[in-house]
This record gives sequence, structure tokens and C-alpha cells, in this order.
Amino acid sequence: MKKVRVLYISIEGNSRNFMKRLVAYAKEQNHQNPNNIEIEAVEISDSVDFAKEQQLFFVNVPTYLEGGTGDGPEIHEIFTNALGDYLDYQDNYKKMIGIFASGNRNFNVQFVLTAKRYAAKYGKPLLYSYELSGIKQDVENFYAKIIDNIPKDA
Ligand SMILES: Cc1cc2nc3c(=O)[nH]c(=O)nc-3n(C[C@H](O)[C@H](O)[C@H](O)COP(=O)(O)O)c2cc1C
Repeated sequence: MKKVRVLYISIEGNSRNFMKRLVAYAKEQNHQNPNNIEIEAVEISDSVDFAKEQQLFFVNVPTYLEGGTGDGPEIHEIFTNALGDYLDYQDNYKKMIGIFASGNRNFNVQFVLTAKRYAAKYGKPLLYSYELSGIKQDVENFYAKIIDNIPKDA
């Protein structure tokens, strides 16, 4: 079975909760198809030791910003920076396949802006966005995006 790493950061628990449901959903799929994937959800935070990633991975980042209500250079990422630092660490981002995002549409132009910026900075696709801890359809869509984007020979 193929193991797929999803690195995530979670400040208030929504992404952590989503990841648990994603891991469980992937396990359910395996009962129907033994050639499926296992999701290894890895939480990154200020308190984990950084390491050089050895295999391809996806990331999931929620959105926290300061500096106003726009989307210009005055707007800064807060709270989630450890994930960006981890991606920069020893060029880990080179093994990143794509990005997933949690946010809240009430933030208008700032909806999932951190993930959009990661996508632009690292030249990797923003694969899927959901609100807060997502609904079941989000878990299914996220899973489908993973399946579509794992290189066949990985
Ligand atoms: C103080 C604060 C600021 C936020 N700012 C944004 C934002 O600018 N854009 C956005 O899409 N979501 C924003 N959100 C929503 C969070 O990204 C969303 O709740 C997300 O699910 C949090 O994930 P986590 O619980 O895993 O940390 C904000 C939430 C809080 C509490």
C-alpha cells in the first residue's frame, strides 16, 4: 500500500480534526480496494524538530493574517509560519506536490490567502480549499485530489 504524507499545521484544531477524518476515510476506501493509499498526517508546529523530507508530500495550511482586510504586501501571515519555515528548511518544498487550505469565506479576498501565497512562492498548485473543519464532501474531494495528483511511480 502506498503511504502518502500530508504535512499540516493547526492552531485552533479545525485542520487537525479534518486530517483525522481524512485518515479514517482513506482507511474505509481501502476496505473496498486493497490497492489504495494510506494517509500519514504529520503535524508541524513551532515545537517539532525540523527534518529533511525524504518522500513526496502534500501540505494543508489554514489562514491567519494581520495588517488589514486587503490582500496586498501589508498583509502578513501569522501563527502558521512554522509550516512555511519547514518548507524552506533544506529545500523541503521541492518534494511538495501541492497545497490544501482551510479558511473562512467571511474573510473575502483573504480567503485561503496563505495557501495562495505558498502556491505562488513555491510554484505548486493549490489543489483544494474548504471552510473551517470541512464537511464530508470536502473530505471526499480532498482525497480525490490526492489520488489524482500522486505521481504514478511514487
Ligand atoms: C483570528 C482569525 C483570523 C482568521 N483569518 C482568516 C483569513 O484571513 N482568511 C481565511 O480564509 N480564514 C481566516 N480564518 C479562519 C481560519 O483559517 C479557519 O478557522 C481555519 O479552519 C483554522 O484552522 P485551524 O483550526 O486548523 O487552525 C481566521 C480565523 C481566526 C480565528
